[in-house]
Amino acid sequence: MIIQKEHGKVVTPGTSPREKFKMVAKTMVSLEEVLADELTALGAENVVPLTRAVEFEGDMRLLYRVNYCCRTALAILKPFAEFEANNEQELYDQVYKIRWEKILDCDGTFMIDSTTSGEIFTHSYYAALKTKDAIVDRFRRNFGKRPSIDTEQPQYKFNLHIRDNRVTLLMNASGDSLHKRGYRQGVGVAPINEVLAAGLLKIAGWDKAIAQSHNNAINFYDPMCGSGTMLIEAAMMANNIPAQYYRSGGFGFMRWKEFNLGEWKSVKNEEDRKIGSIDFEGEIWGNDIDEQVIQQCEKNLEYTKLHHDVMLHIGDFAEQDPPEGHTLIVTNPPYGERIKVEDLNAMYTQLGDTFKQRYGKDCEVWLITSDFEAMKHIGLHPSKKIPVQNGSLDCRFLKFELYEGSKKAKYQE
Ligand SMILES: C[S@@+](CC[C@H](N)C(=O)[O-])C[C@H]1O[C@@H](n2cnc3c(N)ncnc32)[C@H](O)[C@@H]1O
Repeated sequence: MIIQKEHGKVVTPGTSPREKFKMVAKTMVSLEEVLADELTALGAENVVPLTRAVEFEGDMRLLYRVNYCCRTALAILKPFAEFEANNEQELYDQVYKIRWEKILDCDGTFMIDSTTSGEIFTHSYYAALKTKDAIVDRFRRNFGKRPSIDTEQPQYKFNLHIRDNRVTLLMNASGDSLHKRGYRQGVGVAPINEVLAAGLLKIAGWDKAIAQSHNNAINFYDPMCGSGTMLIEAAMMANNIPAQYYRSGGFGFMRWKEFNLGEWKSVKNEEDRKIGSIDFEGEIWGNDIDEQVIQQCEKNLEYTKLHHDVMLHIGDFAEQDPPEGHTLIVTNPPYGERIKVEDLNAMYTQLGDTFKQRYGKDCEVWLITSDFEAMKHIGLHPSKKIPVQNGSLDCRFLKFELYEGSKKAKYQE
């Protein structure tokens, strides 16, 4: 079914479960490639990485599946109208022309999120307001009634995207952001975003390593695990637990008119049946100096029933060895922003010393930090330096390779 033919390029809303349409998955800086790989593995077609987003095609079952399974997407959006507008009146007129009654009922609810760039639409809030006016005016004039605005749990969360004079309207199929996994019962002061944690693990190759762990066992260790986001994401991957398995409150698409409960249940069952299908033999360890934060971590692990899979330790990272054997270490030390550390440079020096003295050639170490000065005090040359964003903080994800011989790194500064 085509909802708009008479103006602009319009995309099918995909009411039949097998009908294919375009989707956009939103993500974070530098996670586009890992997200594209995830989408492809889940069955997406014509996958194209963009900036902080990936475009792809698939049917309604794929829309359900990627919402449920994608670890590195923040939201899945479904474009449904594209047109040009050179001023506010044109925006209003074009939006007014869309047959909104095909999507929404008079007693339905909606909200509009907007992002604008370019010189024509400089206030995204105002563009959203014009769009809302056009929708409600069309309903009022045709039906004498109009759908209401609901900013909490709308039936449809629309996304208005304007770049110069190019306008795209999309439906947010996820509802609440997909970083809200639902497993957080307690947090420390500075928990890392779940989507970022999963993305870092994928960049570090954890998912590929566990897939081959039957002939090359691998462990995971986070020496400053806080409330355990890295540990839980690592354990979920190792157990093949879908990213949203613990989510409460459902997804935006469940409130859509075209939601097909039978298809959703069938997709969910298919994915849930794969839990435990990876032959993972390794160990997952976490450590933190703060006893209270370790208690939060325990709570989260118990909630996910992953507490038997993860071993926790309370102590200074400098006094703790990693697990024996091939081990991937991914950690998120304090940056001095939310967690105050007396001497951050000294802490990073100690981190570098610990890598050299305690972690052997079997270890591959990655860390994320926003403190570019403290980073230099690690005293090791990173073999990779990837720009990432943690909340508002511009960060780097650094890889350190450790080599044989007195557990010292090859490229000491
Ligand atoms: C940025 S937080 C980690 C947050 C974690 N990724 C999460 O999602 O909850 C940094 C953690 O390092 C811990 N920490 C600070 N100094 C430490 C040390 N010397 N040894 C071990 N842990 C330390 C803090 O207690 C804090 O929990």
